[in-house]
Amino acid sequence: MTTYKGIVLAGGTGTRLYPLTLSMSKQLLPIYDKPMIFYPISVLMLAGIREILIVTTTESLSDFKNLLGTGEDFGVEFTYVVQQKPEGIAQALILAEPFLAGDHCCLILGDNIFYGQNFIERLNQATKVEQGCTVFAYHVTDPERFGVVEMDENQNVLSIEEKPVHPKSNYALTGLYFFDNSSIAIAKSLTPSKRGELEITDVIRHYLSTQNLKVSSLGRGFAWLDTGTYDSLLDAGQFVETVEKRQGLKIACLEEIAYRMGWLSKEQIVARAKLFKQNAYGKYLLDTVGYPIFSCNR
Ligand code: TTP
Repeated sequence: MTTYKGIVLAGGTGTRLYPLTLSMSKQLLPIYDKPMIFYPISVLMLAGIREILIVTTTESLSDFKNLLGTGEDFGVEFTYVVQQKPEGIAQALILAEPFLAGDHCCLILGDNIFYGQNFIERLNQATKVEQGCTVFAYHVTDPERFGVVEMDENQNVLSIEEKPVHPKSNYALTGLYFFDNSSIAIAKSLTPSKRGELEITDVIRHYLSTQNLKVSSLGRGFAWLDTGTYDSLLDAGQFVETVEKRQGLKIACLEEIAYRMGWLSKEQIVARAKLFKQNAYGKYLLDTVGYPIFSCNR
């Protein structure tokens, strides 16, 4: 059976958010009621992935360990690795080689938020793929900021370009990638780009050239947010606040997901809730175990 392990990229320098990120990792900044990194971790958990590697910097390693620990509070297992310099997203695949130990991986950027219906189903489809790479495309107004995918009317991929000056489409590649284990060898064969990074789009292009790439489009009803600028950081927080207040359900509440997946018991959730005293997050956890509202269909 194919096993996918998770990798969260939580390194980088966050220069666009200075001075916010001068002494703190971007992925620890708040998105409304929880740290940013909870959102990408929640995606991995919804995909059924419990072995997760956190890639971070020397300076922030202890902060992430303090926040996330071994993973037992969330019914998962965290492993940590330091990326000495931010030399590209694809470098994470090389750093992850011992952790993956021959398994496939789902790599997600630590500053990406995904929210929308049928997402779990999409994730489940991707974790069934035995060979190749699955990526997700999303229509944006500013494709030049991202990896851009050009497709024909049958969704066949024609080209993939990293931050093109003249984008061939409005479809950006999101920061969520499913790779088979050959991605490590591909990453190792790359030479750094002009900006000195091992580019993830080069890895994806390699899969395209061997006809092993699957692009899945996330439609209009879906929200993909990145949080790397002042405005997008604030927008993401307000988006989460709006949805959570309207529905009374939380986005990316890791303890809740673990409970619904059957990875944490009621007693463990109650113990965790006590840590948060009587605040809204704690009450929400207690509500979750008292009155289940939905169940993860896995
Ligand atoms: P970026 O937004 O490209 O870079 P950054 O976070 O350093 O921010 P800035 O551009 O403002 O300087 O990174 C996207 C995500 O990937 C982010 O969560 C950080 C992470 N990342 C790494 O962990 N290692 C890397 O080598 C790179 C390039 C990014």
